[in-house]
Amino acid sequence: MKDKIENIKRSVLEKVKKIEDIKTLSDLKVKYLGKKGELTAVLKEMGKLSNEERPIIGGLVNEVKTVIEDAIKEKENEIKNKELQEKLSRESIDITLPATQIPTGAPNILEKVIEEVEEVFMSMGYDVVDGPELEEDKYNFELLNIPKGHPARDAQDTFYIEDEKVLLRSQTSPVQIRVMLENKGEKPVRMICPGKTYRRDSDDATHSHQFMQIEGLLVDKDVSLCDLKGTCDVIAKKLFGEDCKTRFRPSYYQFTEPSVEMDISCFNCKGSGCSICKNTGWITVSGAGMVHPNVLRNCNYDPEKWSGFAFGFGAERMAMLKYGINDIRAFYQTDLRELKRFDRRED
Ligand code: DAH
Repeated sequence: MKDKIENIKRSVLEKVKKIEDIKTLSDLKVKYLGKKGELTAVLKEMGKLSNEERPIIGGLVNEVKTVIEDAIKEKENEIKNKELQEKLSRESIDITLPATQIPTGAPNILEKVIEEVEEVFMSMGYDVVDGPELEEDKYNFELLNIPKGHPARDAQDTFYIEDEKVLLRSQTSPVQIRVMLENKGEKPVRMICPGKTYRRDSDDATHSHQFMQIEGLLVDKDVSLCDLKGTCDVIAKKLFGEDCKTRFRPSYYQFTEPSVEMDISCFNCKGSGCSICKNTGWITVSGAGMVHPNVLRNCNYDPEKWSGFAFGFGAERMAMLKYGINDIRAFYQTDLRELKRFDRRED
């Protein structure tokens, strides 16, 4: 029996040496040490032994059992350690590799121009206000001195939403009315309002059915056309450079009297003539004028006491001029290749 036990020990230890995976190792453990294992079977035969032999063989079985258990444990540790090392080398990170370039976003160029304009006006004490894009005919036209049936309405081909009453605003000028009504004819007003406007235009390089305007209004005592001219000068110089000049040409809007068109001197050719200014040396950027007495009255401001000026210009046109963009659609097509061209962060 002693030999049998020694044989088991030898054979197990030899097998353990060759094993390289946990599954085979645990199968081996069951085969020899399990309930129906070979070493356990030897113990079951102990009853056949004499009283003298029994403790000797019992001791030997226990000793062999411990030796086998230790060998298996040691092998198990060895396999696990090897697996860990392999995993670590598989998952190692090469920190010397160059990082993946993550494209960063930049403010939309139109947004930048609007912010620039806002800042200049805020520095002169203007509020930046908001108005609804879904507007009532009353604010978009009527109170601006453009009654129903007036031909001036045709020029602003409007998207009507509900009968003749609700529309998508065709200009930001209704915000003038809202602000004046809010102030109840009692307080001076200084505001600009950048916002989306809509017209039933077919989209092409210079037209878009949706575009941004920046509206401005100042109402106070003794405001004159000179104040408008001075204000326009400041903004033109800030946006287009200190040597930028402005001039007014007579024009016509229902909500201003007198009305003017503001031109800036061509920043590209400095007046000598080029394609941007169509060889005139001047570029039209804004409509403006002195607030019409009817409009003041409509908003509870007494035209005998109060006067004011207003202006409105297209933000895309401003951005196109400033950044040399020749197609308004570029602002609204989400083509990253196109947008990247305007991504001039150093500006
Ligand atoms: N609302 C005008 C338009 O869309 C632009 C404009 C002209 C606004 C003169 C004004 C202004 O406030 O005084 O064509």
